[in-house]
Amino acid sequence: MAETSNARKRILSGMQPTGTGALHIGNLEGALRNWVRMQDEYEMYCCIVDWHALTTRYTESGEIWEACLQVAADYLAAGIDPKKAPVFVQSQVKEHAELHLLLSMITPLGWLERIPSFKEKRDIMVEKGEGDESISYGLMGYPCLQAADILLYRAHAVPVGKDQAAHLEISREIARRFNRLYGDVFPEPQSHISETTAVVPGLDGRKMSKSYGNAIYMADSADEVKQKVMNAFTTPTKLRKSDPGIPESCVVCQLRRVYDPEGYLTSWDEDRAGERGCVQSKRELVDILNAALEPIRLKRQEILADRAELERILADGADRARETAENTMRLVRSAMGFK
Ligand code: TRP
Repeated sequence: MAETSNARKRILSGMQPTGTGALHIGNLEGALRNWVRMQDEYEMYCCIVDWHALTTRYTESGEIWEACLQVAADYLAAGIDPKKAPVFVQSQVKEHAELHLLLSMITPLGWLERIPSFKEKRDIMVEKGEGDESISYGLMGYPCLQAADILLYRAHAVPVGKDQAAHLEISREIARRFNRLYGDVFPEPQSHISETTAVVPGLDGRKMSKSYGNAIYMADSADEVKQKVMNAFTTPTKLRKSDPGIPESCVVCQLRRVYDPEGYLTSWDEDRAGERGCVQSKRELVDILNAALEPIRLKRQEILADRAELERILADGADRARETAENTMRLVRSAMGFK
């Protein structure tokens, strides 16, 4: 259904409260900074998808709420203003479950089976020896639940990275199938990838990821940041200060580029020319990183010091999200012939 042209485009963004919930600086630079820019331009909803966490962590369900609070604190500390963009937890807006159920009826199993992330998760769980019983109906339905998250807000776009391309594609396919079967209700959500989004390598040079143990967290103390950076890998053939570095493949140099966009080139030239040692580069990076992260760190501590207020912000976010969700559900129920 076409929105009036002067209506602001709607964006749904989401992250899973994995592990302890804490987000890393890859999430910060690769996603949150972009969301913060978008909250003024778009009608944006920032979801914390706790039911998705349950697809693999059903034995730890009791830890998921705390992880949600940590994610919420990271969203807010990064600069999401909950007055502009509702911040809410998926399980507090039950319409996600209703739409998921309805969409599950029209989603062919074959579509879900061929999703690469499902195959990967299945392989990981089998490898861990968790056996067939850990591969649930819900895990297989993960992309369908994600489609429900997005379509529930009739979002025009979703700010996600390349790793989510398959999930977004199936969301579009489900939207098309619904519209064909029952009439035009859903816009087809586009992926919104900002050109300014930074790619942040992990401390071992691989993609920064919680599961690789190579991440710097938004919540890390100045000391933890120092420890991690001082222990990071640099150019393996640069043993002495005078050896030439290869900044393009050095994590310390890459992080410097992200956090010192104005000044990094000089340090790269010196690195290449063998005019600076890795320890100097690391020390400087520690200072640059800590200067950038300190205000965020303080803000998230402040936010987490008042849990009751944080829970109020989430409850208010859920109320506002629910209003939009309820409007969509009225259209959906009526299109399908339910009262
Ligand atoms: N699958 C997403 C991820 O792993 C998380 C997610 C679930 C999501 N629902 C969403 C992201 C809706 C954006 C919109 O990152």
